[in-house]
Amino acid sequence: MADAETTSATEEPLFLNPLQDGFMENPWPHLAEMREREPVHPILIGGWALFRYDDVFSVLRDPALSVEDRNADFGDLSRGDLLEEMGELDNASILNLDPPDHTRLRHLVSKAFTPRVIEALRPRVEELVDSALDAIDAAGRADIVSGLAFPLPFDVISEMLGMPDGDKDQIRDWSGAIVKTLDPILAPEEIREAMAANRSMADHIDHVIEWKRENPGDDLLTALIDAEDDGDRLSEKELRDQVSVLFIAGHETTVNLIGTGLLEMLRHPGQAEELRADPGLDAGAVEELLRYVAPVQFSRRITVTDLEIGSHTIPARSFIQTWLAAANRDPEKFGDTANELDIRRPDAAQHLSFGSGIHYCLGASLAKLEGQVAIGRFLRRFPHARLVGDPIWNGRMNLRGLDQLVVDVS
Ligand code: HEM
Repeated sequence: MADAETTSATEEPLFLNPLQDGFMENPWPHLAEMREREPVHPILIGGWALFRYDDVFSVLRDPALSVEDRNADFGDLSRGDLLEEMGELDNASILNLDPPDHTRLRHLVSKAFTPRVIEALRPRVEELVDSALDAIDAAGRADIVSGLAFPLPFDVISEMLGMPDGDKDQIRDWSGAIVKTLDPILAPEEIREAMAANRSMADHIDHVIEWKRENPGDDLLTALIDAEDDGDRLSEKELRDQVSVLFIAGHETTVNLIGTGLLEMLRHPGQAEELRADPGLDAGAVEELLRYVAPVQFSRRITVTDLEIGSHTIPARSFIQTWLAAANRDPEKFGDTANELDIRRPDAAQHLSFGSGIHYCLGASLAKLEGQVAIGRFLRRFPHARLVGDPIWNGRMNLRGLDQLVVDVS
């Protein structure tokens, strides 16, 4: 009887449901089930999802696939209308462009992100982290999302771009509403908020660009404006869309690495002790945390022609969600301990949290630097840090992270 029940339970049709109870706090069992039972999965509301490391890796690197929304059929998805309304169907950021435009623009922007340029930012990152830790220390008990995880990447990317001082909370709200559109399912209220926030953010960025033309400096925004002035290298729209993606990607992702990463370190006191004792482990620990928490849970590609994968044919003009979070915990890649946090894992850096191929995250070195300094210094400064109450999750399927994480450091 027990056997029959088990069999019938496993034969129930399986569908990806990120809205199910508990998925936000703990997506891993559901993702593992998808990876094991239906690694190539037609999503109920349209598109396909992939969960195995090898599939995700090869699809991300496949030059026959596109990232341009105009190549996709949205079917009944209201998402297509939303993107059209937002003027996003022709988004010209490098994240949304195929070669040759991708190649030209990435070349222009990548000069500001070489490992050498990023390493030179270390003293400034340390200074920002230490002053955030001073304030947390003085308070004794603090929310480390608003006190450290959010302001650090926000201030660093603002300074790199040379943004004027602005209303940080206001911009944080707009940005949060906009990145919610990366989720496949949205409530009507969220759609309205995203559209309004998108207009406000676009106006803000236009003003910033105007201001920067009057106040040029030794910064990334000035360099991009100079490239735009050069006409055939960067159009006005391309300029606006690069600034927008750098600004938003620059902080909406790293906040999750630092927030959720610290949560996991505090949940694993043995690992935290090892890291406190040996700063030489900082870099490896951040690779492992990136693997373990996947601050961006999935990326995407669009088929231009039919794509054979496993025994499935994914038709042309389909969206594919590549679940980085599931690939990162695939036992076929990371072995029997794939589901465990191990800051000494030798192959942790092979995670797919930054994607792969030509769209591999441009800000990866910067994010890792910020993560290493913030997490390493926090743990060493506060040997008795402990969680207070339950963390508050941000409710985002893709950019999964925390809105609040209260910690007592006294
Ligand atoms: C922990 C933090 C971060 C994570 C997990 C992350 C993750 C990703 C992922 C998954 C992609 C898409 C890769 C693909 O589809 O193959 C991406 C692309 C990108 N990221 Fe990040 N990112 C992070 C931080 C940053 C930062 C700090 C910046 C900028 C300052 C940044 C800028 C970009 C840009 C511009 C792209 C588009 C690259 C392209 O299409 O060529 N990211 N990132």
